[in-house]
Amino acid sequence: MQIIDSIESLRDLLVSQSSVALVPTMGNLHEGHLALMSQARQHGKLVVASIFVNPLQFGPSEDFDRYPRTLAEDCNKLQGVADVVFAPSINDMYPQRQTVFVELPEIANELCGASRPGHFRGMATVVLKLLSIVRPQAAFFGKKDYQQLHIIRQMVTQFNLPVRIVGGETVRAADGLALSSRNQYLSEEERQEARRLSCMLREMRLEMLAGDRSVERLQQAATEALASRGWLVDYVSVRDQLTLQAAQPSDRELVILAAATLGKTRLLDNIEVYLPG
Ligand code: PAF
Repeated sequence: MQIIDSIESLRDLLVSQSSVALVPTMGNLHEGHLALMSQARQHGKLVVASIFVNPLQFGPSEDFDRYPRTLAEDCNKLQGVADVVFAPSINDMYPQRQTVFVELPEIANELCGASRPGHFRGMATVVLKLLSIVRPQAAFFGKKDYQQLHIIRQMVTQFNLPVRIVGGETVRAADGLALSSRNQYLSEEERQEARRLSCMLREMRLEMLAGDRSVERLQQAATEALASRGWLVDYVSVRDQLTLQAAQPSDRELVILAAATLGKTRLLDNIEVYLPG
């Protein structure tokens, strides 16, 4: 496995490669990332894992400074799993102040975008840069960040980028908590409570499958249940899987998305729901 920290060296290495699969990450890798690497292995002859904590996608009061940076451990985990680790510096990725951004559709201002202004613009901009640097045939993103995946798919489709975007299933701890680098911010007590988020999503899905289609009431009840246990709920929202627009009675392929903060840790999760025709 080669570890490369400059765009120029990466381009030299990839120039003769015709089958590259990219897994963009911000590092601090867990089983969810490793599952994406295995998926990537099935699609590309050469698997490139990028590790870059992208300042553009963090707001001024967010956790950019304390975001865990664990490059040495990450590289150990990637041995035998990825062929190339691309870990550029901020200066290499942004040699000058970035003034050109991807302008995103309205959906980027909803859900997570409502409480994280500019987040998706910064995310999409770095993903576009990574795709243009690596020029992979396929790129892999976890479904845990469902809205992110949706926005990337829109960008790739609407810009006719020659890359296939593949979504990887969310990997969970035994108690259901979706794996995330931010889980390590949780205290022991918060970690016990954190499982409630995925429980709540599963319960909501069961109610919908049992015939309860009163989406507004279900969203409200879930929000109140979490709030009563000390969560600060950002949103619990039932959306159409394909468009991420609010669910309509005729929609059958839905996703319930939630974001809520426990202590100082903002957690995200979602669950897909397939209603019978
Ligand atoms: O999901 C992430 O880790 C990041 O948002 C991504 C896609 C690597 C862009 O910085």
